[in-house]
Amino acid sequence: MTTPTATQTPEVRYYHRFTLGQRYLHGIIIITFLGLALTGLPLRFSGAAWSVALARAVGGFGAIIFFHKLNALIMTVAFAAHVINILYRAIVRKQWGLLWGPDSLVPSLKDFKDLFAHLRWFLWLGKKPQFERYAYWDRVDYWAVFWGMGIIGFSGYAMWFAPFFARFMPGSWLNIALLIHGEEALLAVSFIFTIHYFNTHLRPQNFPMDLTIFTGRQTEQEWIEKHPEEYARLKSEGKLEELRAKQPERWLNNFGRVVGTIAFLLGFAMLYLTVVSFIKEF
Ligand code: HEM
Repeated sequence: MTTPTATQTPEVRYYHRFTLGQRYLHGIIIITFLGLALTGLPLRFSGAAWSVALARAVGGFGAIIFFHKLNALIMTVAFAAHVINILYRAIVRKQWGLLWGPDSLVPSLKDFKDLFAHLRWFLWLGKKPQFERYAYWDRVDYWAVFWGMGIIGFSGYAMWFAPFFARFMPGSWLNIALLIHGEEALLAVSFIFTIHYFNTHLRPQNFPMDLTIFTGRQTEQEWIEKHPEEYARLKSEGKLEELRAKQPERWLNNFGRVVGTIAFLLGFAMLYLTVVSFIKEF
């Protein structure tokens, strides 16, 4: 066996992390969430100069509401497809690992232990926790969408189909639905454009951008650094080679960079407008 000389670069190995279906689903969520925020915020701050300018540019607030509902429908279909897929795989194909264990996104005691160990590590009081396939913040990010779909989605549909919902609830509840929808939307926008962006892209290990969700692949080095317990588990089970992947194509990396940059810029712009417009309300 030859050892690499000073001029030879060691081989970089790539491994699959996300399937094509997971990448498409995330892509649809990126587009529709940005679409919902871009069309929802002008409704929430309809008196602001930037909202009026945007409404004029697209043909009025009626057009904004139309695009809001279109994005809501697409997001609902994607979300429902995801939930049905999980239930089918868990119940029919008996893939219990989806509901419990290291590959599951269901929180476990380890997440709480990791959170406290991480806080201790931040304060130089202990060793860095070793994360599995998903860290505790990945699970927070994932469940934030379920929470948001429940609250924002239900209140949104209640407003959309108000005459139907008014058969089952007092009319005043629909006013409350509008209030909940608007304020929860501000929370969702603030969460995604700060905490989610930081967790997945801006923290030191990933800065300036983590392309894994676009390419579906990670290098061995990234895997060992970010998910050491998962790497060690699959290595001991002899499963590493099954996950070996080709180096991501250059066009795919560039595509991820472009989409990621647009999402960043739109997100930060909307976060800025949200904070400024919210403060002006007082
Ligand atoms: C299934 C998902 C959703 C549905 C069905 C939905 C539906 C609606 C409807 C029907 C309205 C009222 C439009 C009107 O004035 O006639 C509305 C307003 C609004 N939506 Fe959504 N929406 C959804 C998701 C979202 C999301 C994810 C966000 C934020 C990212 C959002 C942000 C807003 C905001 C800020 C308003 C204005 C509320 C106000 O005027 O106080 N919506 N939505």
